[in-house]
Formats: sequence, structure tokens, C-alpha cells
Amino acid sequence: MTTTKDKVLKILEENKGNSVSGENLAEIIGVSRSAVWKAINELRKEGYFIEAITNKGYCLDKKNDVLSVQGILPFLSDYDTKDKIFVFKTLESTNQTLKKMAIDGAKEGTMVISQEQTKGKGRMGRSFFSQSKSGIYMSILLKPNFGISKSVLITTAASVAVCRAIKKLTNADPKIKWVNDIYINNKKICGILTEAVTDFESGQIEHIVLGIGVNFNTEDFPKEISNVAGSLNTKNTSRNELIAEIYKEVLSINNNLESREFIKDYRSLSLVLGKEIRIYKAGKAPAGNEPDDRSTDFICATAIDIDNNGGLVVKYKDDSVASLNSGEISIRV
Ligand code: BTN
Repeated sequence: MTTTKDKVLKILEENKGNSVSGENLAEIIGVSRSAVWKAINELRKEGYFIEAITNKGYCLDKKNDVLSVQGILPFLSDYDTKDKIFVFKTLESTNQTLKKMAIDGAKEGTMVISQEQTKGKGRMGRSFFSQSKSGIYMSILLKPNFGISKSVLITTAASVAVCRAIKKLTNADPKIKWVNDIYINNKKICGILTEAVTDFESGQIEHIVLGIGVNFNTEDFPKEISNVAGSLNTKNTSRNELIAEIYKEVLSINNNLESREFIKDYRSLSLVLGKEIRIYKAGKAPAGNEPDDRSTDFICATAIDIDNNGGLVVKYKDDSVASLNSGEISIRV
């Protein structure tokens, strides 16, 4: 059921930065002015900065950054978002919730966002730091009509989509560290975890859950990751707007995935091309300091290209060339 508070928020978000009179709000929604006033107070308690301007009305300040469906939808007015966008206060993991929703029949393009995650999942069984108040934790449901090999492309494409969205809305210069970590100023600001939901009987992929975590205006990282983790810091963009932009870019690339048009951008955004890298086998990559050159945990190579399947082409010291496709290896630049 949509409450008066939800309806007031929808109108204020649609007019963000401009005033709407209490009288107008009451009339559009079909409630009394005192019901509007009550809703405004509830919203203020939830953290919305709403100014009451004499003779003009209520104005939701542009700087507001509270996550909400109403805050995202004005940026997605050209999309069919009916029953597709869900914002939660807290979840264990947006990927986990969306996987359940997919099994229950959620539509392609369904997006789950949470203010915080209590069990945010990272790649290779790691956890993902997901505090509330800052940061973006979002998952998008895709239903590809092709097999597992091409599904790998979705992850590659997603990192291009996130970079495009960041570049569009901010002055930051994001780069991709193969496979799909996004860096700004040599610190990781975004991780992507793609999970497939397969049909138990046929073994076919039915859905892909694309999970994206962005450190957004995040200040305090736990000690274990403070040397590698960074944040996209901006005052001019809200999380709601960036989420909407990422959503648009993901759907747009996904509609045209097979053309592989995005690989060109992936190459130019790459942090590793042309560089000497260390290739670690699964589980061998250090979380903290790098081991010295005598370690047998890694092999050195030069990253020379990204192939059409998003694989990293490397040249070893003996001049042999290989294409690395496994997400199970880690590299260090
Ligand atoms: C990584 O860097 O290892 C991938 C991190 C992916 C984190 C996102 S946050 C939203 C979604 N839900 C999760 O539990 N994980 C992904």
C-alpha cells in the first residue's frame, strides 16, 4: 500500500530543489494539509532535509542522499520500471535476495538495492564491506538467451557500464583492473559479482544476478582493506542518480552484448594493458603486502590485449602468449 509519506516523497523527489506548496501536495494526493505536514515530519526523521519556505512550500534539498525508489524513478522515466525497483534498509546480500526473487518469477531488469548489507558477498568467497549511510549495494536481474560462455561477457560489460555512468555524472577517471574491479587513483572503489541461477532439471542458465558494490563517499574502511580500498567521492551526484545511471548503462550494453562494441571501451579503460603484472592462482593472492620476487605463488607476464571474449592476453617472459579467461586467478599490477 502506498502511504501519504510515499506520495509526498514522490512529488518532492520529482521536484527536487524546487518548492511545492502544502496546499498543492494535499490536493494532488487527496489528503488534508495536516496529513501532509505529518508526512513531512516523518520524512525529516528518516534523514530527508526538507526546508519549509514561507509562501512557497516544502523543498527537498538537492544535497539529499537518502536511498529510495521515489528518488531513483525520476531518473528512469523512459523505462518500464513497474514492479522492478526495490530499496531495502538492510539485507544480508542484495544478490541473495534477488536470486530468491528470480526463482519466484521476478521480471528481467528487476533491481534490488539495500542501504546496508550484513553479509555482502565478494568474489572467490570473500565478503564485501557494506556499511550503511554511504556506499551503493545493488543487484540487477538479467535473463540472457545464451549459454554460460557468453554470460562471462556480462561481467566484463558491467564494469564498462559502471565506468560510463561514473564518467557521465562526475569528473572522476575510473579504470578497470581485469576482470572487473574498478579503480580510481589506484584504489579499488567498486567490485562486481555475477551469479547465475540455473534450472535444476535442465542445467540451463535461467537468470544472471549482477551485483555491483560501489564505495561512494565512504570514509572509514576496516583496517584489513584500508590500503587497497578507495571511494568515489562527490558532492554533486546522489546515490539515487548514480544507481539509475548504472542501471541504464547496464541494460543498454546488455541489449547489444553480442556486438561486443563495449570491448573497445574496456580496452581503453584498462588499468593493466601494457603493464607488467603478477598472475596469482586462486587463493594465492595476498590480501596485504606483496611477496618478494622469489615467491612461487605468482608468474610474471606483460598484459598485451583484451580479447573479444573479455579474456586478458598476456605475454610471458619466454615470449609465449596466452589468453587468461578464468575469473579464478588474481593479478597485481
Ligand atoms: C568483489 O569485489 O569481490 C565483488 C563485490 C560485489 C559486491 C556487491 S554489493 C551488491 C551485491 N550483493 C552482494 O552480496 N555482493 C554484490
